[in-house]
Amino acid sequence: MRYFQKLLFILLLSITQLAHADDGYRLWLKFDPIANVQQRNSYAQKCQFIYSDNQEVIIKTAQKELQAGLTGLLGKKILILTNPAGKKGGIILQIIQNEQTNQLAEDGFIIREENQNIVIRSRSASGVLYGSFALLRQIQSGSSIAQLNITDSPKIKYRMLNHWDNPLGTIERGYAGSSLWKWYELPEVIDQRYIDYARANASIGINAVVLNNVNASARFLTKEYIVKVKALADVFRPYGIKVFLSLNFAAPKLLGGAKNSDPMAPEVRNWWKNVTKDIYSAIPDFGGYLVKANSEGEPGPQDFGRTHADGANMLAEAIAPYKGIVIWRAFVYAADPKGDRFKEAYKDFKPLDGTFASNVLVQVKNGPIDFQSREPFHPLFGAMPKTPLAMEFQLTQEYLGFSTNLVYEAPLFKECLESDTYSNGKGSTIAKIVDGSVDNHSLTAMAGVANTGSDRNWTGHLMSQANWYAFGRLAWNHSLSSELIASEWIKMTLTQEPKAVATIQDLMMKSREIYVDFTTPLGLHHVMGQNIHFGPEPWLEKSARPDWTAIYYHRADSVGLGFDRTAQGSNALGLYSKEVQAQWGNPDTCPLPYLLWFHHVSWNKKLSSGKTLWNEFASRYYEGVKSVEWMQKQWNSVQSSIDPQIFADVSGRLAAQHREALNWRDACVLYFQQYSKQPIPRPYQAPTRTLDEMKEIVRIYQLK
Ligand code: GCU
Repeated sequence: MRYFQKLLFILLLSITQLAHADDGYRLWLKFDPIANVQQRNSYAQKCQFIYSDNQEVIIKTAQKELQAGLTGLLGKKILILTNPAGKKGGIILQIIQNEQTNQLAEDGFIIREENQNIVIRSRSASGVLYGSFALLRQIQSGSSIAQLNITDSPKIKYRMLNHWDNPLGTIERGYAGSSLWKWYELPEVIDQRYIDYARANASIGINAVVLNNVNASARFLTKEYIVKVKALADVFRPYGIKVFLSLNFAAPKLLGGAKNSDPMAPEVRNWWKNVTKDIYSAIPDFGGYLVKANSEGEPGPQDFGRTHADGANMLAEAIAPYKGIVIWRAFVYAADPKGDRFKEAYKDFKPLDGTFASNVLVQVKNGPIDFQSREPFHPLFGAMPKTPLAMEFQLTQEYLGFSTNLVYEAPLFKECLESDTYSNGKGSTIAKIVDGSVDNHSLTAMAGVANTGSDRNWTGHLMSQANWYAFGRLAWNHSLSSELIASEWIKMTLTQEPKAVATIQDLMMKSREIYVDFTTPLGLHHVMGQNIHFGPEPWLEKSARPDWTAIYYHRADSVGLGFDRTAQGSNALGLYSKEVQAQWGNPDTCPLPYLLWFHHVSWNKKLSSGKTLWNEFASRYYEGVKSVEWMQKQWNSVQSSIDPQIFADVSGRLAAQHREALNWRDACVLYFQQYSKQPIPRPYQAPTRTLDEMKEIVRIYQLK
């Protein structure tokens, strides 16, 4: 009997533990009861009810979200009143156009205490929704709500996620399972995840979503698909989110039976007008089109001797009557074996400045090559003052170790946003170009290539949720610090224990630099595995295009390492302003993180660190691996403050990262040592594995 009792107890205990184990699904929107009773009571006093005299659908969402969040946090049901009848101590949601709200951007809000109520006020319903989430965030992260007086406006109009999702459920460069969109079930079946996805986005200010891959299937423009897209648009609308589609430029020929897809052909122009009409009659607030054209084999206007502007403007004309926009990507690079891929997009786009229609944005990746762990900012920023430029960041970790590497990306985004282009004098930062303030544009956008998928925790690596979160927060306000964003996210997602918060924040803040060190230190770039873009492959000499190899970029030889982009080399540096050239142009003064981006440096050159290039370069790999061990130790030290399931999952991924870091280190030092012909600097030990062994290990990634 005693035995059975014991068994029952153990069973019950494990069931309770299971019920409590956190699988990460709730993201930063957990709303678990606040443990500190005093604190909980003091919030509860000010949040006794919710009221609005406005019944717009987005206001209803705000009320519902406040109710769910507060009910969870405060441990008792908070009512939505239809008539507050002079009651105090509640939250009032208000849309009002007055002197105060006119100072705000459309989605901006004010939260303040007035007549013993908390008033969330905006001139738009979406502003009220964002204000409601801001209030929840305040409470979730344990901040005071006494004498609230917050005024906040987004700096960017379109804060968007770009999904690279395909019709059959795969995701290009997705590492968190398959697509969230179940096209075969839509429009009839509405997965709860669509709603939870919208909630998460709205909570961080994201208001636009491109549903499908930029390498676009034309199918998305068919009637069959438009009803599916409409079903998603209907789910997202109450959360203030607009849907967009990526286009296949050859669709008129592929779908419509047109002779070709020449943007100047009247038949083609009409085709686009008709499709656009179909879309808008189903989705009146459809956002617009995202286009990848004449890039990596995708069709485009250049196929017919037309320019990117000709293509963009044709679509802009079709969509203008509905107030839609066209986002035309600048990620283009013709294959030129003698050229420098760094300069290709600039060559195509700079001359087109001033020729795009007023509802077109040109979307530029943060750097000139392709989402490397560190890139100098793209030279098009600052070079096209007459064209609104959208920023494209990548949240999914294509070049950042997929979902086994912990890389907090906010510092990477900030590094780019804070770079000064000097295009209009000192202070012409990328952030101010993208937010329109340097060149006076009101059409502004920032896009993040999404890292979400069907994995239960959305992002594969739980810590990558922070990248989704950080992107939203920065698209809203690029002046927020990476540290602040990290601590908000940690407190809402992982723990509020102060020491653990500080430890995890520190670990996150260092994680990107650690990744750079054990993969591509000192400005080395594009030496990852062919096609898959995982693991090291610096020896890659042949590919379908020269600019898809590794040797094209690192240029290692017996003299040294790095791509000479000065006037003696490709002169890509010449695309930047004089001030920027001065910053990066001299190998003696170029900051070490950018050195090999711009210079071919001799192995024996003494660097500002006091070490020679070879010694510094090799040391970085060793220190990088040691730093991963440090991250593991730091993570272990917070175990008691973290949910056991989350703790174990992140621990496992850190261990995988450590294995990967060793692979990167051994592969790279052994490969480049063939050129430097120098020993591994002391005190580090030479790898115990050979270069051939490393090639074999890495080859496994490529096998089907
Ligand atoms: C990278 C990526 C591709 C993607 C492309 C793009 O090259 O590897 O998968 O399609 O970027 O941004 O268009």
